[in-house]
Amino acid sequence: MGRIFDIHNHILWGVDDGSKNIDMSLRMLKQAEESGTTDVILTPHNKPNRRNVYRSEMLELMNMLKKACVQEGIGINLYHGNEIYYRMDVGERLENGKAATMAGSHYVLLEYNPMDDWDYIKRGADDMLARGYRPIIAHVERYVNVMKDVERVYDLTDKGCYLQVNSGSIMGNFGWKVKSDARKLLKEGVVSFVASDAHEDTKRTMRMDKCIRYLAKKYGEDFVTTIFETNPMHIINDEYI
Ligand SMILES: [Fe+2]
Repeated sequence: MGRIFDIHNHILWGVDDGSKNIDMSLRMLKQAEESGTTDVILTPHNKPNRRNVYRSEMLELMNMLKKACVQEGIGINLYHGNEIYYRMDVGERLENGKAATMAGSHYVLLEYNPMDDWDYIKRGADDMLARGYRPIIAHVERYVNVMKDVERVYDLTDKGCYLQVNSGSIMGNFGWKVKSDARKLLKEGVVSFVASDAHEDTKRTMRMDKCIRYLAKKYGEDFVTTIFETNPMHIINDEYI
């Protein structure tokens, strides 16, 4: 196993409901490193009617974190992104720097309300695709109106969306229904990314090692490499998967 990317997490401190301070962020990164993660795309929430961290501020915080990592001997590569809550103005927000794509690429991590209508979810994906972005649908296992029909999942991937599932969902940390839905998606072979969506250092943590072992046993080492290294490298290099 080469590199292991975590493409969805809330490590950046004081900007959303994730890490509370830089010490917690460093503890989270230490846990990530201990469990084998080598590369992290920071994805603070970007939501309407909230104080959102703009790209410039995010880069400043990321650089502080990079320096702190060097001092603490943490050898993880950091990149910046956002978990963007879909609203009609997302395209504009991306264009004027009020929301960030993933590591400066054409990929965007897109989040919806778990109860959003199927039509609304589809429209959001179409909007991003029409603007030339490549949507990664965050924790797709949570959207009731996608999961109720497997054809909808294929609708999203056929359009050109990529699906991300949370490691905690696969391991049953959010109940049996979410676990069974997450595992169904894996079985269907439609998942392109698995990430921690870590918010802190005790419950929703950066540790993905247990999940990676489960996936390796169930789907093989090549699958694990695709999910945690090959596909994320396509984001970094801004290439199609
Ligand atoms: Fe998240």
